[in-house]
Amino acid sequence: MASTQPRPYQPTPARKVAFLGLGVMGTPMAAHLALAGHDVTVYNRTASKAIALCAEYAGASGLKHPIKHADTPRLAAQGAELVFCCVGNDDDLRAVTLGADGAFAGMEPGGIFIDHTTASAEVARELYGAARTLGLRFIDAPVSGGQAGAQNGQLTVMCGGDAAAFAAMQSVALSFARAVTLLGASGSGQLAKMVNQICIAGLLEGLAEGVAFGQRAGLDMAQVLAVISQGAAQSWQMENRGQSMVDGKFDFGFAVDWMRKDLELVLDEAKRNGARLPVTALVDQFYADVQQLGGQRWDTSSLIKRLT
Ligand SMILES: NC(=O)c1ccc[n+]([C@@H]2O[C@H](COP(=O)([O-])OP(=O)(O)OC[C@H]3O[C@@H](n4cnc5c(N)ncnc54)[C@H](OP(=O)(O)O)[C@@H]3O)[C@@H](O)[C@H]2O)c1
Repeated sequence: MASTQPRPYQPTPARKVAFLGLGVMGTPMAAHLALAGHDVTVYNRTASKAIALCAEYAGASGLKHPIKHADTPRLAAQGAELVFCCVGNDDDLRAVTLGADGAFAGMEPGGIFIDHTTASAEVARELYGAARTLGLRFIDAPVSGGQAGAQNGQLTVMCGGDAAAFAAMQSVALSFARAVTLLGASGSGQLAKMVNQICIAGLLEGLAEGVAFGQRAGLDMAQVLAVISQGAAQSWQMENRGQSMVDGKFDFGFAVDWMRKDLELVLDEAKRNGARLPVTALVDQFYADVQQLGGQRWDTSSLIKRLT
């Protein structure tokens, strides 16, 4: 509970929902759904995390329904109108949706599966098709805002899929988000997340180079960042990662391994659509260097470690 900060929730009818994948992101997202009044059943591959979440919220004030846990995605999804999910990658997503114990096998016709994993647009379209065959609906809905955004319920959600399914999930997803937007047909949410990661990759390298340059020049970088963040160089990364770069702190945030997974998705998609991404491809290799330095789980701002 300590890591999830309850916030005012828009009044919305209580829905029976499931949440699959209780990682750094999924745990607070599931907690916000329960705190907003929804009837939540969770599933996690490592069951101890699901049990711990249920115990943490047992008897919590403001909770209308205790959080329950199930042993398989199928059991978690049974009777749920909406099934939310946030696992690691394409294969993990297939593992929790398809097969005899997958969520699709437990859902009733008309049910909506909402995937918050950062995955490929291809797997989104594949599962949209598989869901449709079963009379289910599928929305790809990757998120931006990081661990802090998940904890304080302020994520940005980029959605792809059908308008009616989107309309049915939007108000519920606003339990853990400040913006939930439909950007087009199935796969569009994942494509928008790729744009997000392309924009971040080059910017972070620029910020790392600026900070490393200033340090070599003998400047007080805390002061410099405070000044230039009031001008045209301002960015979310500068505001949230500038000082921790100066301090050499990277044991938090969005892991380099995840960023490399995301950039692989981006570069694969670019091969298909012909987009030219020279800077993104270069920064991807810089992240490979950071992994070699032992930084697999460091925050993505650790690009500066190559320069200092
Ligand atoms: N962390 C961030 O700042 C951030 C920001 C935006 C987007 N994202 C994206 O959100 C997704 C989740 O990130 P995270 O940081 O929450 O990751 P995480 O902490 O590593 O959690 C991953 C979750 O997926 C589950 N999982 C993995 N493989 C599975 C499988 N084959 N079957 C069933 N469950 C499986 C894990 O279960 P176990 O507990 O059993 O391992 C865990 O619950 C990723 O796609 C990531 O790129 C992350």
